[in-house]
Amino acid sequence: METLSGGRSTGIYRQGETVVRPIQEWSATVHRLLRYLHQQGFHACPEVIGMDTGSEVLSFVEGDTYNYPLEGAIASEEALISAARLLRQLHDVSQGFLNNVNLAETVWMLPAREPAEVICHGDFTPYNVALSGNEVVGVFDFDTAHPAPRLWDIAYSVYCWSPFKTDPIDKMGTLNTQIARARLFCDSYCVSNSDRQKLVTEMITRLQSLVTFMLAQADTGDEQFAQHIAEGHHAGYLADIDYLSLNENKIIEGIC
Ligand SMILES: Nc1ncnc2c1ncn2[C@@H]1O[C@H](COP(=O)(O)OP(=O)(O)O)[C@@H](O)[C@H]1O
Ligand SMILES: [Mg+2]
Repeated sequence: METLSGGRSTGIYRQGETVVRPIQEWSATVHRLLRYLHQQGFHACPEVIGMDTGSEVLSFVEGDTYNYPLEGAIASEEALISAARLLRQLHDVSQGFLNNVNLAETVWMLPAREPAEVICHGDFTPYNVALSGNEVVGVFDFDTAHPAPRLWDIAYSVYCWSPFKTDPIDKMGTLNTQIARARLFCDSYCVSNSDRQKLVTEMITRLQSLVTFMLAQADTGDEQFAQHIAEGHHAGYLADIDYLSLNENKIIEGIC
């Protein structure tokens, strides 16, 4: 059994062609979503194989995986374009799920946001996708999925893929290359012009909401979030909020 490393401290293992992950309160809802996506012909996400005591068993999504710093295939324009197209497909297919479920019966890790246009992945980032060569062909880690407007997910993805990050390990390129990548992501997803105008504000709101969530989780005694706060992860997001605010006009001009 091979331990898989990601952002989580609890055990995630690969066992043959499956991945074993801890069950969470929202796992049943996420399983409904994953099953629905496959039924509709969206096969770029894990399949639900079953449950084992305290764990979920999912299919392994084939492909190469990456993390920051973005180097090699994950930093390519092809990866960026294919990621944006995959997010668009995921959102489009997820609309049918919303029409088929009673939202009151669903449980999500992150609060649902109005209007519930699609199911957002919640963490559609370079470290949660699988690549074949330079092409993004799969996405995993649906724990953060939740109903929300498309722009909510696009905002976090554009922030992570451009990336509009200031941390020395996470940052890549100049502000101009980041803006060019943000524009390419928007073009590949086909983000409307009116949504592009709101994108920087949405990124900032999304990051503020992430910091609030991290602090609240740490406050309730969640050790993993408490450790992230102690290591200053939230300070990184706050610095990125400043970076986005400072450059808001230039970014909007460049992506519209
Ligand atoms: N279904 C899957 N298919 C392929 N790889 C996976 C799958 N689930 C997890 N992984 C691998 O395990 C790592 C950690 O799992 P992930 O679900 O992303 O949790 P987290 O990021 O919270 O640690 C991922 O970065 C990825 O490399
Ligand atoms: Mg992950």
